[in-house]
Amino acid sequence: NPSNYTMEQGTVLGRINCRSKGGASGFKVAILGAAGGIGQPLAMLMKMNPLVSVLHLYDVVNAPGVTADISHMDTGAVVRGFLGPRQLENALTGMDLVIIPAGVPRKPGMTRDDLFNINAGIVKTLCEGIVECCPGAIVNLISNPVNSTAPIAAEVFKKAGTFDPKKLMGVTMLDVVRANTFVAEVLGLDPREVNVPVVGGHAGVTILPLLSQVKPQCSFTPEEIGYLTARIQNGGTEAKAGSGSATLSMAYAAVKFADACLRGLRGDAGIVECAFVASQVTELPFFASKVRLGRTGVEEIYPLGSLNEYERAGLEKAKKELAASIQKGVSFIRK
Ligand code: NAI
Repeated sequence: NPSNYTMEQGTVLGRINCRSKGGASGFKVAILGAAGGIGQPLAMLMKMNPLVSVLHLYDVVNAPGVTADISHMDTGAVVRGFLGPRQLENALTGMDLVIIPAGVPRKPGMTRDDLFNINAGIVKTLCEGIVECCPGAIVNLISNPVNSTAPIAAEVFKKAGTFDPKKLMGVTMLDVVRANTFVAEVLGLDPREVNVPVVGGHAGVTILPLLSQVKPQCSFTPEEIGYLTARIQNGGTEAKAGSGSATLSMAYAAVKFADACLRGLRGDAGIVECAFVASQVTELPFFASKVRLGRTGVEEIYPLGSLNEYERAGLEKAKKELAASIQKGVSFIRK
């Protein structure tokens, strides 16, 4: 009888064993905004990740149905669904990693900054929940504008006295994934062999691909540099042919980044990815650059390395816009 189904139970007639309690090994991961365009494929891919033992899916709509659907996948992670603010506490308690794609996405003609007013409030509320229920968790923030929402999260944590800069990352992985793909196309290589550092932030000119530092080592003509930089910075407008924003490639990128965080937590060595973090790499309080992920989160932040003239000019532009977006986030909490 489906009416017997309770989401915490997950099953009607389950024999009690260690699995139904989540098992002993593996990490506990919550996705906030799990019923959305990014949240659903992200939840599916996390259910397939062998490092995850418990997967909590939280949303203000449709969480039960999405949870039931995902829970039928015969992989190891135990899935539980949580609907609405009253269940936020249970969704967050005990989590090692919290991934946040909650909020509204861009519609045609909107900038990421236009999303600010709605998403800032959502991120604030969810971070207040993290303060109460899992202050030591790693937080991967996806909700846009990341250039402002990551500073908002930091301010909420600072106010509560729980801020650990090593644990908060704005997710810029989609810019890296796009850069690897577009550069591989130009070079005629397999994208899996290409590594493009993308620094700065996650919006327009703040997205700064460092094409002079591409691995494998290569060189580009000025035309290629102009084309690639513009395409990487505006990749978001290609997704859904401009009628929405990226969800599938974003879910892929989010899982790639979350998996790197989990491998770091497990103690794997040499996990280096780009992320938007509290940083002293520039004079700005937040900046995206290469970071090394380990047992405590961001364990090392790498300097930008040597930039060419084109990149130095791009960096100045990026910093100007980024400074304003960061300040906007900080003021939202301190006002
Ligand atoms: P969507 O609208 O399809 O999904 C958002 C989900 O968040 C919905 O299910 C909604 O019910 C839920 N939600 C709203 N308020 C909530 C609350 N208070 N608590 C929990 N859940 C809540 O949007 P989509 O396409 O999944 O995008 C989500 C966010 O990710 C947007 O802000 C978008 O701009 C951002 N994004 C970030 C990217 C990045 O590279 N960091 C790339 C693409 C999108």
